[in-house]
Amino acid sequence: MSEHLTVVTHPLVQHKLSLMRDKSASTPLFRQLLREISQLLAYEITRELPLTRKTIATPIEEMQAPVLDGKKLALISILRAGNGLLDGVLELIPGARVGFVGLYRDEETLQPIQYYFKVPHGLKDRLVIAVDPMLATGNSSAAAVKLLKDAGASNIRFMCLLAAPEGIVRMKEAHPDVPIVTASVDSHLNEKGYIVPGLGDAGDRMFGTK
Ligand code: URA
Repeated sequence: MSEHLTVVTHPLVQHKLSLMRDKSASTPLFRQLLREISQLLAYEITRELPLTRKTIATPIEEMQAPVLDGKKLALISILRAGNGLLDGVLELIPGARVGFVGLYRDEETLQPIQYYFKVPHGLKDRLVIAVDPMLATGNSSAAAVKLLKDAGASNIRFMCLLAAPEGIVRMKEAHPDVPIVTASVDSHLNEKGYIVPGLGDAGDRMFGTK
């Protein structure tokens, strides 16, 4: 991808996102919509994946059929909310390898603290798609991407549902080589680090923890 930021303005994405933002959306509906949007974002983020040709036999004749080239992708969920995006993308790309980065945000400093890191081997030869629904301050996203680079990844893309301008700036400063694909760039962050208008705490809404 050549653009640093891609906003997927497709009407289906925008419509589903509005349904998710509504605070009256139930937990199952929120999760279902997130899964659907994740697949539409995945469609966009994988648009330029390289293809190669493979000989297959249809019932009619042999042909040189296009198939994905290179090592299997790595999907990295930034816990815990990343799992809501991961499920849908994995349905679309079932052969992908999966990793997890556990970071939580210190409520006072808003800085990321790492508590878990487990990723597939051979990251350096894979397209790595890091997923986290909310790009807020960008601190945890930038920290997660740094951990992935330290583990060898060099071709990384970042998928989120909502982005705050502050998070986009932070990511661009820290990782100008990592394209971001999102469904929306919202107005700003509030004093607690929540995206405005946003959708609240994505983890709480998808797991029903509040
Ligand atoms: N994380 C969330 O879940 N929501 C926000 O608005 C910001 C960070």
